[in-house]
Amino acid sequence: MKKPFIVGNWKMNLSLKDAVKLAGEIKSFAGNMVNTHIGICPPAVFLSDIFKVITGSNVILGAQNIHFEDNGAFTGEISGLMIKDVGCTHTILGHSERRHVFGETDEFINKKLKKCFVDDISPIFCVGETLDERENGKTNDVIEGQLQNGLKDTNTADAKKLTIAYEPVWAIGTGKTASPEQANEVHAFIRDFLSKKYDANIASDIIIQYGGSVKPDNIRDLLMQNDIDGALVGGASLKSDSFLEMIEIANSI
Ligand code: 13P
Repeated sequence: MKKPFIVGNWKMNLSLKDAVKLAGEIKSFAGNMVNTHIGICPPAVFLSDIFKVITGSNVILGAQNIHFEDNGAFTGEISGLMIKDVGCTHTILGHSERRHVFGETDEFINKKLKKCFVDDISPIFCVGETLDERENGKTNDVIEGQLQNGLKDTNTADAKKLTIAYEPVWAIGTGKTASPEQANEVHAFIRDFLSKKYDANIASDIIIQYGGSVKPDNIRDLLMQNDIDGALVGGASLKSDSFLEMIEIANSI
């Protein structure tokens, strides 16, 4: 099994004080967790402060989104160069909340993904189907479309920097988790796609995280699946108890 990659997506939560405290607790704990890659994606306005807290540790800092331009008249946006400037090596892209709440298209996400590779940022590229799509038997088609369009014009060198997060929309923040087998089926489908697009070795090295109501009591069974290499965690990453417990479990597998 690859070293699991466990990332907390803090979304639009926490005060600066609570975020700094949580990051400090994660940093202290992470030092002994040598079998796990650990990342946190705080709200953008906290990135600088959080970088100061975790600097020198093995905790990876990521943003939750970027724009594909370096600068310009894009009110409210932040660029890849800006997140690098404050210590990020990673960013989430194409999260379902960006797709469904803010109307981001595959084409828009593709531009940002390609910019990550130009700027030497590692994207955590999210894909996932809605409940309606799953119930209508369209899961694989939807995932394939998101991968095809999102990864358009990327090459094998780019793929080495890529993490994929499979997040079924119906499992995000709902308490409903895909069963480990259900999730693994989609992960295997994603891996097969990557193998055809790049090559089998690269595909087997790409981390494919699962996201959607991951908690201390289900993370082990998820990570035990062949094609699940990590987790992108929302709600349960906001409390040190549950996040550290999940890291400890991942580290022990
Ligand atoms: P929850 O873990 O709160 O379901 O959120 C998942 C998610 O969207 C992570 O990016």
